[in-house]
Amino acid sequence: MSIAPHDIADRDDIEAVVVAFYRRAFADDLLGPVFVDIARMDLAAHLPTMCDFWETVLLRTGAYRGNALRPHLQLDAEVALTPAMFERWLALWTATVEERHRGERAEHAVAQARRIAGALQRRLGASRPADDRTGAAAGG
Ligand code: HEM
Repeated sequence: MSIAPHDIADRDDIEAVVVAFYRRAFADDLLGPVFVDIARMDLAAHLPTMCDFWETVLLRTGAYRGNALRPHLQLDAEVALTPAMFERWLALWTATVEERHRGERAEHAVAQARRIAGALQRRLGASRPADDRTGAAAGG
């Protein structure tokens, strides 16, 4: 790389990270099928929401007013989102951020992703019926 990595400065930086992350996630052997075949995620439609979300986390603009748990609850009802999937998500996110940026906000982006992933997993776990662990995804 010819330019030294700088910290995440603005929404353009966030958008570039988010696009690079989803490019990887869509091509990933574990996460790709979830995003592409099950969620049928439309990145162009989803991108402004993800940028609002990360802008709010990193730049404190308050642009994101959604409920991040809801789509994951819906998805988890279709295909159980496993700890391995969350670990992969975090590995791809961390690699994408660290490749492009260095600094406090970059570190915050990685740390917050890990914290939120943990919170999402706890909430998903709490929403699953206790005896439904093997049955949930068996039909698909
Ligand atoms: C196994 C891991 C994950 C999978 C498979 C996954 C998948 C998805 C999908 C399919 C959507 C819906 C996209 C759409 O509306 O078309 C979504 C939304 C979202 N995800 Fe994830 N996600 C994962 C982990 C995470 C983590 C760790 C974070 C945060 C650090 C996160 C943040 C969000 C946010 C903010 C939204 C938008 C919520 C809204 O619509 O307001 N996701 N995710």
